[in-house]
Amino acid sequence: MKVAQLYEGKAKIIYSTTQPDQLIVYYKDDTTAGDGAKKAQIQGKGPLNLKISDYFFRLLEAGGVRTHFIETLNEREMLVKKVQIIPLEVVVRNIAAGSISKRLGLPEGERLPRTVVEFYYKNDELHDPLVNRDHILALGIATEEEMDKLKEAALRVNSILEPHLLEKDIILVDFKLEFGRTQTGEILPADEISPDSCRFWDKQSLQKLDKDRFRRDLGSVVEAYAEVYRRLCRQ
Ligand code: TMP
Ligand code: ASP
Repeated sequence: MKVAQLYEGKAKIIYSTTQPDQLIVYYKDDTTAGDGAKKAQIQGKGPLNLKISDYFFRLLEAGGVRTHFIETLNEREMLVKKVQIIPLEVVVRNIAAGSISKRLGLPEGERLPRTVVEFYYKNDELHDPLVNRDHILALGIATEEEMDKLKEAALRVNSILEPHLLEKDIILVDFKLEFGRTQTGEILPADEISPDSCRFWDKQSLQKLDKDRFRRDLGSVVEAYAEVYRRLCRQ
């Protein structure tokens, strides 16, 4: 099925396939923080992120949100629709944490009075800067109409994931989505939805069950990812 490697990112590899409109995403165990300044191999992370992403993409599709997901092929490979990734990280925040706490002085753990959606320009050399709508227009990344669609889709994803996770005793603090354009001009959530791209806190203890365990040297990284998957599978 795999034809050629098209792109290798920090945590995934993208391959072309014999189908011109389909790609294979390979989930690596590699993990990085600070734009690759800190690196490690976390044994078993790739398969867990794939299983968790598979779960969330199916949940979104069942909720009427079309995504790039087609099917999981094996423990590290997912078949997806070919899209042109829009170079924006769309971040949705329910609770203050991470960069918004630093930037705006909001204490970590404080619920935001309304959900915040932010756009970051995906550019490693520039360290993925926060950008506003005028910046996005000036860079020619997306139109006003597309930005409205991205925000609306991101909030819809939040409205499906947040209550679902709460039933699993997980607080969805924030998460990052990437979107891509299909050849027919449809805009679909792509990339992955995993503990690498979301902040998940245990409902009772507020223990971190996501990549902050790696970013902040808290240990038990893969164990936390496995706990997220275990809870998702719980009836
Ligand atoms: P932040 O608080 O560091 O801006 O992160 C917000 C959310 O985005 C958090 O759930 C982690 C996720 N994220 C990524 O997926 N990739 C990144 O490169 C960064 C910085 C954050
Ligand atoms: N994307 C960051 C990196 O490039 C990692 C992160 O903080 O999620 O290393």
